[in-house]
Amino acid sequence: MKRRSFFQGLLASGAALNLWPGALSAASERIDRLRADLGGLQPGGASFWKRVQGEFQLSAGITHMNNGSIGPSPRVVTEGIIDALGQLEADPYHNTWGGLAAGMEDVRSHAADFIGAERDEVALTRNTTEGMNLIATGLDLQPGDEVLTTNHEHGGGMICWQYLRKRRGVKLNYLELPTPVRDTAQLLELVEQNLTPRTRACSFMHADTITGMQMPLAEISELTRPRDILLVSDGAQTPGMLAIDVKKLGVDAFASSSHKWLLAPKGTGLLYIRKEVQDRIQPISLYSGYSAYSASGGTRDVAGILGHGAAIDFHNAIGREQIEARCRQLSTRVREHLEQIPKLKLLTPVQPELTSGMVTFAVEGMKNGDVHKRLWEDHRIAAKVAQGTYAFTEVPGELHKNYNALRFSTHIYNDESQVDRLAEALEEILA
Ligand SMILES: Cc1ncc(COP(=O)(O)O)c(C=O)c1O
Repeated sequence: MKRRSFFQGLLASGAALNLWPGALSAASERIDRLRADLGGLQPGGASFWKRVQGEFQLSAGITHMNNGSIGPSPRVVTEGIIDALGQLEADPYHNTWGGLAAGMEDVRSHAADFIGAERDEVALTRNTTEGMNLIATGLDLQPGDEVLTTNHEHGGGMICWQYLRKRRGVKLNYLELPTPVRDTAQLLELVEQNLTPRTRACSFMHADTITGMQMPLAEISELTRPRDILLVSDGAQTPGMLAIDVKKLGVDAFASSSHKWLLAPKGTGLLYIRKEVQDRIQPISLYSGYSAYSASGGTRDVAGILGHGAAIDFHNAIGREQIEARCRQLSTRVREHLEQIPKLKLLTPVQPELTSGMVTFAVEGMKNGDVHKRLWEDHRIAAKVAQGTYAFTEVPGELHKNYNALRFSTHIYNDESQVDRLAEALEEILA
């Protein structure tokens, strides 16, 4: 059965409708128009994506190719938040915990559906870092217990384990990722070699923040689950880019940032903890339940969370599989074009199962920071410098690496002509 959209859900609830008539109908109508227009266009064709691009409010002169850092929200999200805020501030007492706020549970249901989870396995957070902190500190690890992670994790998925090392004597083991990784078998071999009888958890990002490589989590879970090792994933980069299903990925816990590929309001994220391991991962803020507002979680940003729901509706109106195909199509084009430039060396694997919407190239003969600066100053193209690890670490020298690279992440608001201009700009800068 096709689920009602988040807005249709709110509209169907008389209370919400009375409290939020203007905002609701405007946002709901916008989604309905988009859905109807896309229904009349060839799925995935140029006109289809042109229509989608029209929903964004990026400045005309800029080319945003750094969705891996932050995604631009479409109009339905920003307009929905503004209207919701107006309603909220008109009657804050009735709308912060009831009334308008009741819609937050609907958002949680839609978010759970979006990642293939049950509602009572999903909590709405502020970002990946918060989700990862909740997972790590919610685990009862003992001195000498070991956590296996990689040398490519982002600080947001790593500091929680460094904290446990310092505060609880947990041992942290790092798996060194080759750049580029040869194939899935090489990765699985590396993981298996680094497991020990004391390994209690493996913590791997779903898409590598440095290279864009997709970790084969489903295959890794076949190594961890039989050994009773928890598989935790920093999924900051994947919901909204890949049509993910946490059950198929085999992860026990997964944290993500909706303000990246899901294009949701800044400061929104998801935390999934598989039902079967909820007795082993017990964050304080989920002590009284996973609902958006709970006694142990406290008061929330209702308008922002409703905006999170609007972003999910927006993705569903376009289609998750359609979006993944588009992200892959554009990142493949980036790879194929930039591979022609002699001073750029690909760090991302090429097999579809190991790729994502992000591609990274090491730069030869120039500092990546200088290329990055010129891309922005001369061409108004926003990319990302990819140095090495982004992890904060208190151990001198630990994880130090410098790839002198640039990462390009392209999403549904980008198009082929922008990729072509990127290639021309890089040719000029590196000439
Ligand atoms: C893999 C990964 N994890 C965590 C983060 C941190 O995300 P946030 O600041 O939203 O918590 C990022 C941000 O780029 C990331 O790429």
